[in-house]
Amino acid sequence: MTNRSLLILPGDGIGPEVMAEVRKIIDWFGTQGIAFDVSEDLVGGAAYDAHGTPLHDDTMAKAQEVDAVLLGAVGGPKYDVLDFSVKPERGLLRLRKEMDLYANLRPAQCFDALADFSSLKKDVVAGLDIMIVRELTSGVYFGEPRGIHKEGNERVGINTQRYTESEIARVARSAFELARKRGNKVCSMEKANVMESGILWRDVVQEVHDAEYPDVELSHMYADAGAMQLTRWPKQFDVIVTDNLFGDLLSDLAAMLTGSLGMLPSASLGAPMANGRPKALYEPVHGSAPDIAGQGKANPIACILSFAMALRYSFDLGDEADKVEKAVEAVLADGLRTADLLGEEGTTPVSTAEMGDAIVAKLAAS
Ligand code: IPM
Ligand code: MG
Repeated sequence: MTNRSLLILPGDGIGPEVMAEVRKIIDWFGTQGIAFDVSEDLVGGAAYDAHGTPLHDDTMAKAQEVDAVLLGAVGGPKYDVLDFSVKPERGLLRLRKEMDLYANLRPAQCFDALADFSSLKKDVVAGLDIMIVRELTSGVYFGEPRGIHKEGNERVGINTQRYTESEIARVARSAFELARKRGNKVCSMEKANVMESGILWRDVVQEVHDAEYPDVELSHMYADAGAMQLTRWPKQFDVIVTDNLFGDLLSDLAAMLTGSLGMLPSASLGAPMANGRPKALYEPVHGSAPDIAGQGKANPIACILSFAMALRYSFDLGDEADKVEKAVEAVLADGLRTADLLGEEGTTPVSTAEMGDAIVAKLAAS
């Protein structure tokens, strides 16, 4: 037993494959005297198949106890027919909600070796390093009332965008704190031109700024204009803070700036626990990619970089996180490419497992 506990939830689709590669990294750290107390459990469709629920109460309880949860991906066409309440995604949303993981950090960094691969021009993305902070426990994902009901002779679908001042203020603080350690700039995105919740969002972010973070440069943008600016000149941004739904959209967009969704990690952080560390769940931004599951085509880098974020934010192992990130950079510089990144001349196609092995080999050589 060590004092570093980690719960691994591989989930569905490519989740188990990419997680197997993270296991290699964890094992390698074990050989270096940095051991983790790892347990593994089910989430999403895999949990539904075993227990009839996308997240068993025992798993939820375990997640509350560990230092960090590392999740692969959830969902797949097999589960499309399920009732909404037991869909794989509900398992993930329950974890986020009950662990109160309100700040979702989604960095979009363009590795030099991949700058040519982006669908945008190289000079637009080369050297890109932005951080999207997405509110993760409220907004339209969780607002009440919600549902589908009958009005007269037609059905009506309802979801509610709802934010309290304290929910906005705490995620704004996360963004300002991060900005101070980076480029010291925050851009807040909402739709204050059409949504009252957007007006409140803008006001509260400004208030928190003026009272607590006047040293950080703050700007506001409508989220649609933000999407446009992200593709026009993404390097104008440092930290972007936005709500749950806009964050979902904008982070997929930002991911693609870097070449592939298969590259992007995320950290979802809550309030500090008794040991001073935040409650935390780490997961790749990509989904379960059922179309390529089980074929060795998946890119394990997003999941491996998510583990690197765990090293940094949950285990105070910043140097080790740097090491993992450098190892990833090095294999990319060597030209190794999983299926999502193929196409460039002079690169070498590798499988999911070969990519994991190559990253471990770089670590061992570092
Ligand atoms: C994400 C995903 C999830 C979300 C899904 C799987 C519920 O798209 O993490 O971005 O919408 O939050
Ligand atoms: Mg998403």
